Amino acid sequence: MAVNAHTRYSQIMKDVEELILDHIAHQNSGTAHASKLKLLVPSVGSFFTPLPMQDAFNYQDSKRCISSRRFVPPSFNDIRLVLNTAQAMSLVRNSKLELVTFDGDVTLYDDGESLTPENPVIPRILDLLRNGSRIGIVTAAGYTEAPKYYERLYGLLDAVAASDLAEQARNRIVVMGGEANFLFTYTPDEACRLAPVAKADWQLPEMQSWTEENVKALLDVAEAALKDCVHTMQLPVSVLRKERAVGIYPSKGIKLAREQLEETVLVTQRILELSEAGKRIPFCAFNGGNDIFVDIGDKSWGVMACQRYFGGIEGGRSLHVGDQFLSAGANDFKARLASTTAWIANPAETVLLLDEIAAMGREEGERVAGMVG
Ligand code: IMP
Ligand code: MG
Repeated sequence: MAVNAHTRYSQIMKDVEELILDHIAHQNSGTAHASKLKLLVPSVGSFFTPLPMQDAFNYQDSKRCISSRRFVPPSFNDIRLVLNTAQAMSLVRNSKLELVTFDGDVTLYDDGESLTPENPVIPRILDLLRNGSRIGIVTAAGYTEAPKYYERLYGLLDAVAASDLAEQARNRIVVMGGEANFLFTYTPDEACRLAPVAKADWQLPEMQSWTEENVKALLDVAEAALKDCVHTMQLPVSVLRKERAVGIYPSKGIKLAREQLEETVLVTQRILELSEAGKRIPFCAFNGGNDIFVDIGDKSWGVMACQRYFGGIEGGRSLHVGDQFLSAGANDFKARLASTTAWIANPAETVLLLDEIAAMGREEGERVAGMVG
């Protein structure tokens, strides 16, 4: 039975793989709207790379014994992990893992926590740097000052400082805060190990319109919308206005209901979309799990700014790893526009994904060595 199920699932994955290839061919000839995949899944976006779905399924099946289950069919999580593996395989096999960007909360550490020295993701990120990838931490957490980021990320930054990495490799790690607003690069010269990067070195031309006036107008509308929700739903929260964001958060120990969070995001987003200020510059209203923030810009801009800073890396050579991809009010979702993505559910899955990538890299190395030998 398991063998039969495996053969059938595997064939379906091959079919999906071919649908994606066909969709990419349509993308390249400007007719993506007419692909078979688009007809089957009208909400499908564009693909930066082909996805070896069959190989990826075989891999995940060997790990998760999907075909051996009798009552529970392949689930949402199974498919999410197959897609992550397929994306990683496609990048590693073609030596295209040039930039890896990570979300912070829930991706590298638990919600609201910090990246502490014992976090198992640290040696894996050092390995990526050692192998030539650039690294960006692209987080919504928005602080203007470098020491605040150090407080959240010190485990990783101290490990980079203490490592045997060449200086060139150390310079390949940056932190983008506030979605797309504040860029810092690693430096051995500061106690907080981070130095701000000059705007001219990373900002995109479109960001010229993010003027103080436009930012203020947008945040004013957002703040009023949030306060209105606080009032109508009697939310037990404080309002926090920052330079490039405005948010609401409850006092310690209080948990907001999912319905309240979602309603607040949807109302605020709608009001902003309809406002004049919201048409002038991009913004991102999202549900952070137990808080709501409206940020200037979004992660597509954050990832694109990192790509630009590292010399113009293409979307098909860049991977964003994050936890927020459910389209309504999820902030990593926008990164889909700028790069390939992997959707993880918790920090342990990020570690597993990086281990998969390392193993794929070794296999690829052996394959190439075999061909040369
Ligand atoms: P991320 O998962 O790394 O993108 O971080 C998201 C979390 O950062 C939110 O849920 C907030 O709790 C927190 N945060 C702190 N400052 C800001 C800000 O300025 N904008 C958005 N989120 C913020
Ligand atoms: Mg997150």
